[in-house]
Amino acid sequence: MPDANMLFLCKTSDLSPGAVMQVERPEGALAVYNLDGKFYATDDRCTHGLSSLADGEIIDGEIECSMHFGSFDIVTGQPRQSPCSVALRTYPVEVRGDDVFAIIA
Ligand code: FES
Repeated sequence: MPDANMLFLCKTSDLSPGAVMQVERPEGALAVYNLDGKFYATDDRCTHGLSSLADGEIIDGEIECSMHFGSFDIVTGQPRQSPCSVALRTYPVEVRGDDVFAIIA
């Protein structure tokens, strides 16, 4: 049974290594990433505009936004490529069995 602050994101089998997907929620969608078998979560909306980062491409541990091709470090949320300059919010991720959860504070 997940804790109250845990948001179910997906099954581990839903996301192949190198893939990203969007998980909707009323407070704002999250983007979930599989980097070499480890899962990460950030806000899905690019801090530069309204683009969904789940539409972007993962390149060397960064998510490249499909709108203006700025990028963020997926682990830290720090902007890596202009025009992105504001960090993305990141969320701790916990895997229980084959369920992937974000810890929402
Ligand atoms: S909306 Fe993402 S880089 Fe501009």
